[in-house]
Amino acid sequence: MRNPRFNPNLIDLPFYVPGKSVEDVKREFGLEKVVKLASNESPIGPSPKAIAAAQAMLNQAHLYPGNTERELRRKLADHTGYGLNENNFIVGNGGTDILHMIAQAFIFDGGNAVMSRVTFPMYHIFVKAFGGEPRRVEPLPDCRHDLDGMLQQIDADTRLVFLCTPNNPTGHIITQAEADAFMARVPDHVVVLFDEAYYDFVDDPAYADSLAYIKEECNVLIVRSFSKTAGLANMRVGFMVGPERLTNYVRHVQRPFHTGEIALAAALGSLDDDAFRRQHQQVVWEGRRYLCAKLRELGLKCFPSQSNFISITNLPRPVDEIVAALLQRGIIVRSMAAFGLPDAFRVTIGSSEANELFLQALKDVLVIG
Ligand SMILES: Cc1ncc(COP(=O)(O)O)c(C=O)c1O
Repeated sequence: MRNPRFNPNLIDLPFYVPGKSVEDVKREFGLEKVVKLASNESPIGPSPKAIAAAQAMLNQAHLYPGNTERELRRKLADHTGYGLNENNFIVGNGGTDILHMIAQAFIFDGGNAVMSRVTFPMYHIFVKAFGGEPRRVEPLPDCRHDLDGMLQQIDADTRLVFLCTPNNPTGHIITQAEADAFMARVPDHVVVLFDEAYYDFVDDPAYADSLAYIKEECNVLIVRSFSKTAGLANMRVGFMVGPERLTNYVRHVQRPFHTGEIALAAALGSLDDDAFRRQHQQVVWEGRRYLCAKLRELGLKCFPSQSNFISITNLPRPVDEIVAALLQRGIIVRSMAAFGLPDAFRVTIGSSEANELFLQALKDVLVIG
């Protein structure tokens, strides 16, 4: 049988390979205890208020989603402040769905998008999928975004610039001074996308306030997610914020009923639980400080993360060997080759028990190596 006509933009497109599942690793290595620190998931689960809200919605599972999406957008607007309203928000099936919508909306008839070479891989995958040219800019020597280098790559055909802050995989942030300097020079035909999936884990006061650019009606979109601090990765809810001019346009690519109302109810419930969010932040901040200190004692280099993960380099053995040896000991971490750091692996900040198990296994692996 001959193949039908395939879309050439899709043929060589890399697949996104997620972190291995606990079940697979248990089966593969015959292990009873496996700790997954590979996908930046919450170490404390979802908020009880989110669970209760989702459960209360279950008896509506036979109905198409109703008003909850609008309610969520209203509540997000209230929580965000800046005088924004529900029309400034689009809710999607995870932040990934939002990134897909943005690529679909702005990459057409060719066009290019500028991003760092070391960042979340879905940007270049989605840009290619829609027939655009990803322009992947070499980061600075310390792996921070080279914002000047990015500006130099912008031309008349540039549609989007992807700024991931905190960046996945390094955890670096873009500071207010850096963002202001960038925004002052970026041409106004370009949409600047701040991917802030991890913004809640930032404790550096220099972190750029990107919402102010939306208030100023700049061509800025911000992507955030309920997967991280809200601990709802399995529910698949994310959102974008932008000037109504842009959100009303992007809404054209939103599919009907694209986010289930059980998930939307969970997201709404999580917004009522600020104490839970703060508890989660504390767990991550303490774990981050602790793990960084311990990893440095082992002679390893940690990127200075403002997120709920740490990428680790300066390894005495090839990264794949270390990742595989950890896996055999029931610790799932992730090589960052697909994220542009071929000599690094990333570990998610876990519970204190998970962090200890990781450190112990890593010490074994480094000694035996
Ligand atoms: C930088 C970044 N942006 C967006 C996402 C999307 O997350 P989700 O689709 O779970 O909301 C992720 C997920 O890991 C991410 O790392």
